[in-house]
Amino acid sequence: MIKIINFNSFGDDRGSLVALEAGRNIPFEIKRMYYIFDTKVDVSRGFHAHRELKQVAVAVKGRCRFVLDDGVKRESVVLDSPLTGLLIDSFVWREMHDFSEDCVLLVFASAYYDEADYIRNYDDFLLEVR
Ligand code: TYD
Repeated sequence: MIKIINFNSFGDDRGSLVALEAGRNIPFEIKRMYYIFDTKVDVSRGFHAHRELKQVAVAVKGRCRFVLDDGVKRESVVLDSPLTGLLIDSFVWREMHDFSEDCVLLVFASAYYDEADYIRNYDDFLLEVR
């Protein structure tokens, strides 16, 4: 369920550069990007699934821990590199925990924001996914 995408880095003596391209290393057409930053200590976020939306999350700075749950099993992964994307499919419950103070979490999404696509209650998620 944890699907990691490793990004190529075009590094040289000036530093590093990563290019993300829709339909190439991001496996969908990108309709939206957002970023989560200045997350307060001990705050957790997420706690929802999407019916349609696919997303790729990248900790471009700092780190955070994702918990993904497909209704059968629960897995945890720490994102701590700008070279690593986490692909989150539809019908996957996600939680984000343990944000470092400096964490900037960049997220690419396959659709515009649509509250109707969210499942925000875990029991409803289990009913829909099964
Ligand atoms: P929320 O879904 O609670 O964030 P998280 O899943 O990270 O805990 O979103 C926080 C607020 O931001 C909520 O009022 C909805 C709004 N929002 C948008 O308007 N557009 C977006 O693309 C996203 C992701 C959230």
